Amino acid sequence: MHVLALLWTLVLLLKEAQAWGFRNGIFHNSIWLEQAAGVYHRESRKGRYQLTYREAKAVCQYEGGKLATYEQLEAARQIGLHVCAAGWFDKGRVGYPIVKPGANCGYGKVGIIDYGYRLNKSERWDVYCYNPHSKECGGVLTEQQKIIQSPGFPEEYENEQICYWHIRVRAGQKILLHFLELDMEDDPSCMADYLEVYDSYDDVSGFAGRFCGDYLPDDIISTGNVMTLKFLSDASFTAGGFQLEYVAFDASLGPQVQTNNITAAPLS
Ligand SMILES: *[C@@H]1O[C@H](CO)[C@@H](O)[C@H](O)[C@H]1NC(C)=O
Ligand SMILES: *[C@@H]1O[C@H](CO)[C@@H](O)[C@H](O)[C@H]1NC(C)=O
Repeated sequence: MHVLALLWTLVLLLKEAQAWGFRNGIFHNSIWLEQAAGVYHRESRKGRYQLTYREAKAVCQYEGGKLATYEQLEAARQIGLHVCAAGWFDKGRVGYPIVKPGANCGYGKVGIIDYGYRLNKSERWDVYCYNPHSKECGGVLTEQQKIIQSPGFPEEYENEQICYWHIRVRAGQKILLHFLELDMEDDPSCMADYLEVYDSYDDVSGFAGRFCGDYLPDDIISTGNVMTLKFLSDASFTAGGFQLEYVAFDASLGPQVQTNNITAAPLS
């Protein structure tokens, strides 16, 4: 390759690495609710690509929002919303926002990957909602040890909450989650209110469990130095909520050394 062309490629790669790349010591491939300009991606509680257009609308309304418009989705994309899943948005259009080009997602393109206005509104996709006023909770936690509680704990949590906690500790450390209390609306598959744990810095990969009811889960240990908790409550019935503690420990030493009474069950 010509030297100039090579240099130019390097410049482009560097630019991309900046826009994407490491932020707060994490290689980002997605961002979370409060940074996406009120736009968020939802899949059905039954799983990916399960929502008709009518159901998609209902999902957003259920949480007090509405379907995102193309412009809202693009605005969110511009500040980093990157989701590899097609969803309904306003006026029966389907697509998804891509920030970083990838062969397996978006055909190597960047932008809103647009499937157009669907004639068949019974097709099943995910959904992109817009809700600038959704009740925010959660946050980014970098402390070595902290107690995390559902909003208002030990009072009952409110309906229609969506909270994300992104835990990030030092490189070379892992995170141990230890549940202290759990009291949430109970149903067999935790479809109503639930706490989800992800062994990653987003809620796209590394799913480690969904919890509800009042049965205390075992401790959970991360494989890396990040973890995400997602708490979601629906529009009916609330309960006491949850309380858990996380502790960072040096991966080379193991959790017992530093956490004393906490016993560990590694992620399978
Ligand atoms: C519309 O989509 C649904 C779901 O994919 C499919 O079952 C149905 O046959 C489609 N209807 C038409 C008219 O193509
Ligand atoms: C461990 O648990 C016991 C009994 O619950 C308690 O007395 C002790 O203080 C705990 N140790 C630490 C280091 O927290």
